[in-house]
Amino acid sequence: MGKKSLISITDFTKDEILRIMEIAAEFERDLAGGGVASRGLLQGRVISTLFFEPSTRTRLSFESAINRLGARVIGFSDVANTSVSKGETLHDTISVISNYCDMIVMRHTLEGAARYASEVARVPVVNAGDGANQHPSQTLLDLYSIKKTQGRLDGLKVMMVGDLKYGRTVHSLLEALSHFDTEFVFVSPSELRMPVEYRTLLDKKGLKYSELTELDGHLDDIDILYMTRIQKERFNDPMEYERVKNTYVLHAAMLSGSRETMKILHPLPRVGEIAADVDDSPHAYYFSQVENGVYARMAIICYLLDVKK
Ligand code: CP
Repeated sequence: MGKKSLISITDFTKDEILRIMEIAAEFERDLAGGGVASRGLLQGRVISTLFFEPSTRTRLSFESAINRLGARVIGFSDVANTSVSKGETLHDTISVISNYCDMIVMRHTLEGAARYASEVARVPVVNAGDGANQHPSQTLLDLYSIKKTQGRLDGLKVMMVGDLKYGRTVHSLLEALSHFDTEFVFVSPSELRMPVEYRTLLDKKGLKYSELTELDGHLDDIDILYMTRIQKERFNDPMEYERVKNTYVLHAAMLSGSRETMKILHPLPRVGEIAADVDDSPHAYYFSQVENGVYARMAIICYLLDVKK
């Protein structure tokens, strides 16, 4: 396999997505048994994690995955300590770091930055989030979480709630789920609707969706409730953020009529849209979801580097 990057979830076919699910499951089983088969798979390799934008889960779960596979990590989590702060361009930064590693995992504030980096780099690039655009590794762990909890990816009703306009996680997840027989319900303030290009994709594929502005009272027939944060950092106008920031707060009492198998996912961090009383609910899955991030990212890295167990 030549150099292959993961910039958008559309870079992977449905078959590749399903293959990642299988590899992630193999890693989960291996780690449960002590991780003997995983350890050493990437011995001697170096992977760079370049985070131009803050992160807890994505960076640390990638670094955990890299360490569990026996590779070394180099990188930065704060550009203030790099030559970017002296004015070095993204082109030059990526050209240079390509010489130091076998793969680059990069998060950037600008939409399209990861695609550009993949065109400059001599090694595979994984987009760890580019502005409001895409977050494909999150999507693969989300799909893995959905498959693990529901036993299937087809025939599910998925509700997405919150910032559907700027939310890169919901954009990537919608595209991935459009390979399957999914019905969508979008819940957002009118200012933060799912962008038209994503709704058009569903129309083209003949997939059903509906749009709501209210959450309470609409949860009874949902299989996956995908909550998201209203993202302060994406708003140009602070007043607009203030107007919508507390629109949705999920409380345990709102879940009383839900399907027994319904699971709540959230890419995290949360900032109030899921009340603490939901954490003890059997529907809450967001903290188990982060664990799946390690398995999914181990699978992505090995798949792109064409390393087999
Ligand atoms: N889900 C996610 O991208 O979280 P971080 O911003 O903490 O990486």
